[in-house]
Parts: sequence; C-alpha cells; structure tokens
Amino acid sequence: MEPSRRFSIAPMMDWTTPHFRYLARQLSLHTLLYTEMVTTGALIHGDTERFLRHSPEEYPLALQLGGSDGGELAHCARLAGQFGFNEVNLNVGCPSDRVQNNMIGACLMAHPDKVAQAVSAMIEATDLPVTVKHRIGIDGRESWDQLCEFIEKVSAAGCRTFIVHARIAVLEGLSPKENRDIPPLKYDWVYRLKETYPDLEIIINGGIRTFEECHQHLAHTDGVMLGREAYHNPWLLAGVDPEFFGTPGPATSRHDALRAMFPFIQQELDRGVFLTHMSRHVMGLFHGQPGGRQFRRYLSENAHKPGSGLEVIEEALKRVPEPEPIAAG
Ligand SMILES: Cc1cc2nc3c(=O)[nH]c(=O)nc-3n(C[C@H](O)[C@H](O)[C@H](O)COP(=O)(O)O)c2cc1C
Repeated sequence: MEPSRRFSIAPMMDWTTPHFRYLARQLSLHTLLYTEMVTTGALIHGDTERFLRHSPEEYPLALQLGGSDGGELAHCARLAGQFGFNEVNLNVGCPSDRVQNNMIGACLMAHPDKVAQAVSAMIEATDLPVTVKHRIGIDGRESWDQLCEFIEKVSAAGCRTFIVHARIAVLEGLSPKENRDIPPLKYDWVYRLKETYPDLEIIINGGIRTFEECHQHLAHTDGVMLGREAYHNPWLLAGVDPEFFGTPGPATSRHDALRAMFPFIQQELDRGVFLTHMSRHVMGLFHGQPGGRQFRRYLSENAHKPGSGLEVIEEALKRVPEPEPIAAG
C-alpha cells in the first residue's frame, strides 16, 4: 500500500537510526520515516541484515539507497521489498565528496539519463513505490530548465514522487553541513514544480520548523519533510497525527513516550547494544522543558558507563517534572 507522504522525517545519517525511528513512532503513527542512506555497495558486499534491520513497529518506513548502477539498485530495491519496507528512495541530494567519487548523491543531478535508467531498473525489480530525493540543482547546473529536464526524464522512467530539498548543492567548496544551510532556500521553485507537473507528487524539504510553515507549504505541495527540527525537537511529532491526519496521536506525555520504549531498549541491551547508542537519540525529547537540561546532562554523564541499563533512563526522567500536558505542536 502506498504510504502517505503528507508529513515525513528526512533520512539523516547517524541520526535516523532504528532507535530514533522507534522514538518517533511513539509520538506519531502516520509520519513516514526514512532510514539513513545505505549504499548499494554496503548492502551487496556488507552485512545486509545489519543494514536493513528495523522493527515492524517503525512502519510506514522507507529505505533510502545511495548508488547509481541500475543492476545494483534493482537488487537492493528487491531486498527492500523482501525486508518489508514500504518505499524505496534514491538519494540524489547528498553532496559529500566521499559519495561523489562513487557517483552517489547530488552529483547525479548532472546525469538525468543515468538516474532515469536506475529508477526504471528499480521499478522493474520491486512492487514498492520508488521515489527520488534531490536538490533543485547543483553548481553549474542551476537553471529551471535543467531542473525540469531532470524531473521529466526521471518521471518518464516511472517515478511519481519527488522529494525536493529546496536549495542547490554546491559540490565544489562547501562541506555537507554548509550545503544544508548556505545555498539559499527557494521554496517557490518547488511550488512551481507542482504547478508545472500537477500529476506528480511533490514533497518539499529544507528549513521547515513549525506546523504553521508546514501548512503554508501544504497549500502548494503534496507533503512536507522535516529533518533537523524533528530530530532536535521530537516532541513536535506528538502533534502531527491530530494536526495533519485528523487522528489522535499515540503519546500522552514525553515521559510515557520514553517509557513505552523500555521493552525495546531492554531487548536491544540484551543483544549487546550500548545504552549510549540509544540514549543519544532521545536527548531532544525534553527540548525547552524545565529540567530538560538536567535530563540531558544525566544521560550524557551516565549512559556511556559500562553496564548502564534502563535505570539510567529512569533516573534521568526524575530530573524532569511530571505530569506533562497533552501533545501539542
Ligand atoms: C546529520 C544529517 C545527515 C543527513 N543524511 C542524509 C542522508 O543520509 N540522505 C539524505 O538524502 N539526506 C541527508 N541529510 C539531509 C536531510 O535529509 C535534509 O534534506 C536536510 O537536512 C534539509 O532538511 P531540514 O532543513 O529539515 O533539516 C542529512 C542531514 C543531516 C542534518
């Protein structure tokens, strides 16, 4: 079944791990979640099971792939289906040097035919929806016509959904981090894509922080994707189901959302995952709350100690007053 893309959390390396996604799912049932990018090379030659590991509780969940070889991407798209993902997404937006050298990410915006071929091979290989996340351009290829050429070629190959980070990527001279802030956001270009190609699903991404902004974007596009704000302030997600899907959210308080993760955290501890690998992704939960800083400090100072378990999170929770008000955006 096609997942709703009205509200999604962006793929983020080291951030949208299974542990962060599990937290996100305690706060919203309808938000579409994305994995971190996994390269085709890693999936094919590495520990496939480990890279694709997730819990059924995380659904709806999209797997993001990095690669450009049609045969390899087709193979990985097939794996996505076998492992139960709800969508497979191709990364055409990441500007890192490391990935440019392997023809992965934003550099592919200069090769629309290659992306079209890859997408066509993926569609052939799986019944899952195949989507593309990209920029509005790259340095040296920044015109509206070039963006349209990209969209037209890739949609002719069968892609119906484009997730558009509304700034160009500068491949020469800016770091990946700078590439998320320095090139100016051009939301109007994304709106114009929707106007020009009304039959395509156009999702907007980049710099979105509040529900008010989401509503403004939803007046011109089919969905919003939030990255950094959702990670740093995950309680925002507790308002998503009522605000954008007309259903109550699953969480009644920050405390309860975290406690609802305890069985999962224990299960992970039992298989040898260190507490700190999980606790670092819940640091933002009490963002801006009285006691939030003490919560974070307690976790930072204690979660890495050998043998740390759920009792560390219990103690950290005591640093923040309970009860909490009902979910609000
Ligand atoms: C730590 C971090 C890692 C990221 N990793 C990926 C990635 O693996 N794949 C991808 O397509 N984008 C990646 N991005 C970019 C985000 O998906 C998103 O496009 C970008 O952060 C802009 O959205 P925002 O302003 O809402 O954060 C990453 C961003 C951050 C902050």
